[in-house]
Amino acid sequence: MSFENIEAVVLAAGKSKRFKTGKSKLVEKICGKEIILFSTKLLEQMKIDTTLVVGHQKEVIQQLVKKHHKKINFVEQKEQLGTGHAIAITKDILKKENILILNGDVPLVTEEIIEDLYKKHTSSDATISFVVSHCESPDHSYGRVIKNKQGIKIVEAKDFDPKIHEDHCCINAGIYIAKTQFLKDCIDTIEKNKSNEFYLTDLVEIASKTNLNVETAQASLNLVRGVNTLEELWAAEQIKRSELIKYWMSHGVRFNVAQAIHIDIDIQIGNGTQIGCAVHLLGKTKIGKNCIIKKFTTIENSTLEDNVEIHPNCVIRDSYISKDAQIGPFANIHSQTKIEQGVNIGNFVEIKTSKIGKFTFARHHSYLGNATLGSRVNIGAGTITCNYDGITKHETTIKDNTYIGSNNTLVAPLTIEKNAFTAAGSTITEDVPTNCLAIGRSQQINKENYVEKLYEKLKTRSLEINNDKKKTANLMNIKKENTSKIQEL
Ligand code: UD1
Ligand code: CA
Repeated sequence: MSFENIEAVVLAAGKSKRFKTGKSKLVEKICGKEIILFSTKLLEQMKIDTTLVVGHQKEVIQQLVKKHHKKINFVEQKEQLGTGHAIAITKDILKKENILILNGDVPLVTEEIIEDLYKKHTSSDATISFVVSHCESPDHSYGRVIKNKQGIKIVEAKDFDPKIHEDHCCINAGIYIAKTQFLKDCIDTIEKNKSNEFYLTDLVEIASKTNLNVETAQASLNLVRGVNTLEELWAAEQIKRSELIKYWMSHGVRFNVAQAIHIDIDIQIGNGTQIGCAVHLLGKTKIGKNCIIKKFTTIENSTLEDNVEIHPNCVIRDSYISKDAQIGPFANIHSQTKIEQGVNIGNFVEIKTSKIGKFTFARHHSYLGNATLGSRVNIGAGTITCNYDGITKHETTIKDNTYIGSNNTLVAPLTIEKNAFTAAGSTITEDVPTNCLAIGRSQQINKENYVEKLYEKLKTRSLEINNDKKKTANLMNIKKENTSKIQEL
């Protein structure tokens, strides 16, 4: 559908008072995406030119929107005098025949809803059209749509009186299309209400009273929920999240406990993959086919190829895991690490800014930082790279088929050549040549039949210590007695 004769204004200047966090709700995220970007991206996708009205915390909103859009206009509403006032300040820049107005805090609205509204608006040659929905709850905060013999109007929640108005279930969703000329002519006729605000919604009554055509389009409440409070944010995120989970289920992804998953919008998952309980899939993570991600794992901005298995409680950030790798439990892989095919990373292993070659093993309690490991390397339990000297990070290179014994301290910069072997407990400070065994530890001395002598020595020593203690205690007692005698005198 083409929207050539329409341009959009998104209202994003409000104070977010009901949020009570001190921050603008519009930069709060739903499934990893800031609320305001839902509208701006949708409009960009529909190729509708957009103006954003900003005011409260405008720098934060502008900076965020500019990061994601090259072509977007901003108009500043210096004082937040209501939605009607927000539109009034844009009237001189509006050029196209129709204007689409979106409340910036209605993130789940879809292209279909706007298309439907546009069709109704144009086919009935309406002056103003808006999206309505059905909401049973009697104490909701939406504007109520009142239709009777006098016409149609929107009564705001604050002003709604059930004694006067019978119907409360039809609500205004905050999405409108109006003829621009009508808007320019009438926006300044809106009167300030009791709360010192200009309500955009008054335009409906103004049009209706002058017998201009007002049209409505129905949408499901879940898709037009406004986000005014943290509870409403939670509700909107639940809806989006279950939408995402259902989508991936329909593409062959098994969620073991679907109600306890956090999944962001830009995640991709291959079919045959299983996601365990309380897994967090964040940012631009891409997971291949037939992977198993076990419980309590977080994966952020990372790629997993096919057949990767992540055991419970792992954190993987900004990294790449190739096919058939086994990771965890309790592994921490981050900061541009690349794990190649068939690698096995075990429990309590941290890997940072490193490349781990094919079929290499690091199974227990290790730290590998700024390291490049070849293929089929074995990293013994407790091995660490000392990559930081307090000023600079240094590289460790461990080439193919090398065996690093347990509890090694590898002091970078360091290169260990192919097929080398380092003895357990070594501190390796010098490069190790190919096929070489490196032992970097003090030599063990065995003293034959020494244990009895040792115990004798230990006994004598402890007797001496006890005697010393008794002497000290006696001296202290004498001192105390003398002090009290002096006091008595
Ligand atoms: C508004 C509608 C209400 C509707 C509901 C749908 C009005 C008067 N009421 O109420 O009928 O049911 O949306 O979600 O419009 N804003 C500005 N400048 C301002 C005030 C607000 O730009 O001076 C922006 C806000 O940032 C927000 C949007 O306008 O994105 C809507 O404002 P909000 O205060 O949330 O309106 P509601 O009370 O939800
Ligand atoms: Ca709102």
